Amino acid sequence: MRTQVGIVGAGPAGLLLSHLLHLHGIESIVLEARSRTYVENRIRAGVLEYGTEQLLDDSGVGERMRREGMLHPGVVMRFGRADHRIDFADLIGKHVMVYSQHKVVQDLIAARLAADGQIVFDAEGVSVHDFHAGQPRIRYRHGGAEHEVACDIIAGCDGFHGVCRPSIAAGELRVFEREYPFGWLGILAEAPPSTEENVYVSHERGFALLAMRSPTVSRLYIQCAPDEDIAAWSDDRIWAELQVRAGRDGFALAEGPIVQRGITPMRSFVVEPMQCGQLYLAGDAAHIVPPTGAKGLNLAAADVAVLTRAIEAFYRQGTSERLDAYSATCLRRIWKVQRFSWWMTTLLHRFFDHTPFEQQMQAAELDYVFSSRAASLALAENYVGLPLPS
Ligand code: FAD
Ligand code: PHB
Repeated sequence: MRTQVGIVGAGPAGLLLSHLLHLHGIESIVLEARSRTYVENRIRAGVLEYGTEQLLDDSGVGERMRREGMLHPGVVMRFGRADHRIDFADLIGKHVMVYSQHKVVQDLIAARLAADGQIVFDAEGVSVHDFHAGQPRIRYRHGGAEHEVACDIIAGCDGFHGVCRPSIAAGELRVFEREYPFGWLGILAEAPPSTEENVYVSHERGFALLAMRSPTVSRLYIQCAPDEDIAAWSDDRIWAELQVRAGRDGFALAEGPIVQRGITPMRSFVVEPMQCGQLYLAGDAAHIVPPTGAKGLNLAAADVAVLTRAIEAFYRQGTSERLDAYSATCLRRIWKVQRFSWWMTTLLHRFFDHTPFEQQMQAAELDYVFSSRAASLALAENYVGLPLPS
C-alpha cells in the first residue's frame, strides 16, 4: 500500500490532520489501535478555544458543534466562598465553545468516511520504520494479515503512550517534564449543570471544577492524591466532597447518577524537537499539559494546523522549509500554553506541603488576578487561546 502521509492514531490530532490534508487534495491513511466504538466514546476534554472552533467550522466539520455546543462568554473562579468572573466577551471580545472531545472525534470520523478516507481501526502492532532514510514505512497487522504502508511523511499522532515517540533514538530528543503531587478524580453525571459557565474552585480541602457536557450532563472534578484508589470513592463520598468544596451561600449543586468516573494524573511534558527525519509528532505524542487550562485538545489542533500548512507547501511548492521549521514553529506557542497550564494549576490547587509564606503568595496572586484588569485580561487571552502560529 502507498499513500502520501501515513498517520498513526485516530484521536483529534490524527483525524483532524487527515481531514485538513484531504481538503488540500493530499492523501493519507490513519492507523488506529483501538476500535471505532472505543475512540468515539472516549470521554476526555470539553473546552474548545476560539481558534479551534473556527478551525473546525472553516474546515466544514462544525455543523453539529454549532447546534449542540454551548458558547461560554466567560469563566468563574470560586474562592473565599465567593464567585469572581472573567468576562471574555468584555475583555477580548471572544468566547470558548463547550463541546465534547468525543463528539469532535465522531464528527471527524464521519467526515473522513463520507469522503472515502481510509481509517484502519483495530490495527495491531503498529511500527514505524526508515523515517531517516527518505522512504518511511509503517507496518501493522489487521484481520490476521501483515500490512505495510509506504509514504513520504509519517505523522505520529498516537498520544502519550503511543509508539512513534519511543521509535526515535533517545539521544535525539530532549524531554522536559514535571509531575504534580495530585491528580483529578473526574465524574460524568446525569445531572443538569448547576452553573451557566465552568467554575474553577480553589478550596482549602483542594481544587474542584464544575464543568458540563450538555444541558443534562455535568462533568465534575476534584483534586485527589495522584495514586488515589477510585474504589475508595463511593457516589455518596464524591457528592459530599463536591458539595463542601463548591459550597457558597445560595448555591446548590445538582446531583444525579454517576455514569463514568476516572483518575487523571497531572503532568507537564514536552519533547524537543517534535520531528526526526520524515517523522513528525503532533498532539499528546509530543506534549502533555495538566488539564487545568483546558488545553490538551486545543494544542493538538494547533499542531496539525501548522503541520498541514507545512505538508501542503512540501507538495505544492516542492519546498521543505516549513516542514523543517515545524517543531520550532509549534514549540514557541506550546511553551506559552505550557506556562499558562502550569500557572492555572499552581494558582488553583492546594499544595499540602506549602509553607505559610507560599500560601500567602497563592492567595495574593488570586486576589491580584481579580483586582487587576490587566491580569484578568491576560487570563482571558490565554484561556480563549493564543493566536495560531502564522
Ligand atoms: P489522543 O487523543 O491520545 O489520540 C491518540 C490516538 O492514538 C488514540 O486514539 C490511541 O488509541 C491511538 N494510539 C495509541 N497508540 C497507538 C499505536 N501504537 N498504534 C495506533 N494507534 C495508537 N484535556 C483537557 O483539556 N481536558 C480534559 O478533561 C482532559 N481529560 C483527559 C483525560 C484523559 C484520561 C486523557 C488521557 C487526556 C485528557 N485530556 C484532557 C487531554 C486531551 O484529551 C488530549 O490532549 C487529546 O486527546 C490529544 O489528542 P491526540 O490526538 O494528540 O491524542
Ligand atoms: C472538561 O469539560 O472536562 C474540562 C473543562 C475545563 C478544564 C478541564 C476539563 O480545565
